[in-house]
Amino acid sequence: MSWITKTLSSSIGRKLLMALTGLFLCSFLIVHLSGNFQMLNDDGGLQFNAYAKFMTSFPLVKFISYGLYATILFHAIYGIMLVMANRKARPVGYKMADGAANSSWASRNMGLLGSLILLFIVVHMKNFWYEMHWGEIGTDAQGNRDLFTVTKIAFSQWWYVAFYVLSMAVLAFHLLHGFQSAFQTLGINHKKYTPIIQTVGVIFSIGICMGYAAIPLLMFVKSLS
Ligand code: HEM
Repeated sequence: MSWITKTLSSSIGRKLLMALTGLFLCSFLIVHLSGNFQMLNDDGGLQFNAYAKFMTSFPLVKFISYGLYATILFHAIYGIMLVMANRKARPVGYKMADGAANSSWASRNMGLLGSLILLFIVVHMKNFWYEMHWGEIGTDAQGNRDLFTVTKIAFSQWWYVAFYVLSMAVLAFHLLHGFQSAFQTLGINHKKYTPIIQTVGVIFSIGICMGYAAIPLLMFVKSLS
């Protein structure tokens, strides 16, 4: 058996891959958010559309994007497999253990939180990514595909904004457990550094998700005037 198949089939190996893919997705969240903030510029979306064109046509970025899609699929499929394997191994849970006292709600519901994030990603990809690549959308004053107007219309609908904001709350819970758990999985467990990692994790999870949620909220408020 090659080391790759060994890693993929051992439970420690699977946990390790969940941690590495999870942290890679965390780094993507930072890059994606910094790009999305351009939607708040007061230029009718010109800068954002130029950025969207670069992100969907520059060969190196396209290559990294395919890696990202594969990582999301891998993380989601392995995550669901891990949850199912844990359930099979312990179908009724420990009678003696009081789950709420020993672990956080998020840590016990990573599969549910992840599945809700996956639902959000599918809707998000359909509405923005698919439209940008194959949808019938207009062009802006610079001749770029006008993804900004597509998002502006989406974020002028209260139910879409509510779905987006709730999904970000779900992501925050996933990361509140996931961020620090990934470092533990990687064996970084230290008297001095673990509390620092936990604090950074809380700031990261809440900060990033609030940043994402702020964009549709602000665009919705703008759409009212
Ligand atoms: C942007 C999206 C996502 C990010 C940033 C992310 C991040 C993370 C991180 C950092 C971990 C901790 C890994 C560890 O404990 O070592 C984790 C765990 C987990 N993720 Fe995600 N995740 C995302 C999406 C998803 C999706 C779509 C699913 C789909 C089902 C999912 C399911 C899970 C599960 C079940 C675990 C726990 C695995 C375990 O018990 O070890 N995640 N995630």
